[in-house]
Amino acid sequence: MKKDIVVLGIHDGHNASAALVKNGSVVAAVQEERLVNEKNYSGTPTNSIRKVFEIADIHPSEVDLIAIASLVRTHAPLKERPIHVRLYEKYAFLFRSHKMRKLLIYFLHKRRDMNEIIGVLKELGIESKEIMFVEHHFAHAACAYYQRPWDDETLVLTLDGAGDGLCASVNIGRDSTIERIASTTAYNSPSNVFYSEITGYLGLKRWDHEYKVMGMAPYGIAEDCIDEIRKIARVNPKMPLEFENTIGAYVIYVQKKLRKMLAEKRFDNIAAATQKHFEDILTEWVRNAIEETGLSKICCAGGAFLNVKANKVLREIEEVEDIFFYPAAGDEGIAVGAALEGYYRFCEREGIKPGREELGPIYYGMEYDDDYIKEVLKRTGWIEKAEYVDNIEEEVGELIANNKIIAVFNGRVEWGPRALGNRSILADPRDMRIIHKLNFAIKQRDFWMPFAPSVLEERGEDYLQDYKFAPYMIEAFDTTEKADEIVAALHPRDRTARPQIVNDWNPHYRNILKAFEDITGVGGVLNTSFNLHGYPIVGTPEMAIWTFENSGLDGLAIGNWLVVK
Ligand SMILES: [Fe+2]
Repeated sequence: MKKDIVVLGIHDGHNASAALVKNGSVVAAVQEERLVNEKNYSGTPTNSIRKVFEIADIHPSEVDLIAIASLVRTHAPLKERPIHVRLYEKYAFLFRSHKMRKLLIYFLHKRRDMNEIIGVLKELGIESKEIMFVEHHFAHAACAYYQRPWDDETLVLTLDGAGDGLCASVNIGRDSTIERIASTTAYNSPSNVFYSEITGYLGLKRWDHEYKVMGMAPYGIAEDCIDEIRKIARVNPKMPLEFENTIGAYVIYVQKKLRKMLAEKRFDNIAAATQKHFEDILTEWVRNAIEETGLSKICCAGGAFLNVKANKVLREIEEVEDIFFYPAAGDEGIAVGAALEGYYRFCEREGIKPGREELGPIYYGMEYDDDYIKEVLKRTGWIEKAEYVDNIEEEVGELIANNKIIAVFNGRVEWGPRALGNRSILADPRDMRIIHKLNFAIKQRDFWMPFAPSVLEERGEDYLQDYKFAPYMIEAFDTTEKADEIVAALHPRDRTARPQIVNDWNPHYRNILKAFEDITGVGGVLNTSFNLHGYPIVGTPEMAIWTFENSGLDGLAIGNWLVVK
């Protein structure tokens, strides 16, 4: 019998994670933040590495290859800036050319600290297995390309803040290979130098709160400062597949220039102009790439593609035939990317015909049975108030319809930044007043940030214009008039939505939505991630109960247990 090919993927940088790929399919993947309760945890994903074996029920000795994402570890700016990162930020301009960038990465890769990873591998008894490094942007590209929803030759785009000295790449995917045809050095990153620095300039956290700028954008008037904003970054006029830093500074050193350029400009107008210019340069870059390659089916990954509004604009470009955004677009995703790339290279070398699986449901994480949950409820004293409910899905649907805000903890943890019904807080989307309660009593959330809907697949066309199956909350849509029914889950200013279309990939969640629909006639609920502001989405029952205790949630449906305050 043919032996299974098992590859362990590890990402040990910003938003660390681990993944297991078996015969080309992702069988387990976990973000370290979900286990240690620290958002965007950066470092060796010690717990996740152990956990993926447990989840997939694969013994570490079965691993054929260990694929490490990134030649050089990525770091979160401001939070952890070892001396070489600070020096790099100061002298980044010296490495703006591809030649110098390669030299630097070669040097830093040689010095890559592997002690912690090797320590974990030793504990698992697999330190002598083959290790392969997958360059950061190839890892992003691999996530999207190898799991694309078609077989054709594909234009593969990556864009992020920085990784292995690059911020963007343009590639052609054919069969089992990804060929890079252009890339942009990190110094020229529009995500980092432009979008993230504006985020910092507005008093928000760089490399974390960019989505808040995007959420603010519809409130402002872009024209007020678009001319100034355009001076920060553009598509390189001489190299149309590359971006260019035109402000002449890198990360933190941009701030001084921004203070001068944007003095007395309103924060909402700055946000609007930033989003508009970002969309404009991405559109130009994508059009150039289509023209250069003749390919109009596109796969995208990298943190910049978490910008659901920009994704909407790209989807609507006339020349784009189809576009697929990998949902774990940020660096958390590259453990999967590294494992997939490792798998294809391994098969190529060994003369094995590789398997391929289109992306489906992404509940790749750990799950807990009712007995374990009961133990935790006992330990925390909540068992007195908890009730075991056989038809918990109906009960939750009814509670939501009665204006209660209910957290749902069920099945395996989602992969990527979005809660897709297994670690979600659900509310009735019909009435805007629910937003006040959600923002102030539960999530301590910024008042301008929109919520998002989960919509039954058969009701998608009722609420979304130019409907397309969108199960991952990675793309925004304009909405119909009927979407008034789910008004609290739309952007309050421009009425766009970032939906999760719910089909039978998640029967439990679908049943909750059906129960809500039976009572109200409304085909969707408001779905926000189950966490408190500043914390990651809850991973474990312990984290779920702690979050429940420390918030104004009305109820918690955890497994088949229901706790109502
Ligand atoms: Fe990245």
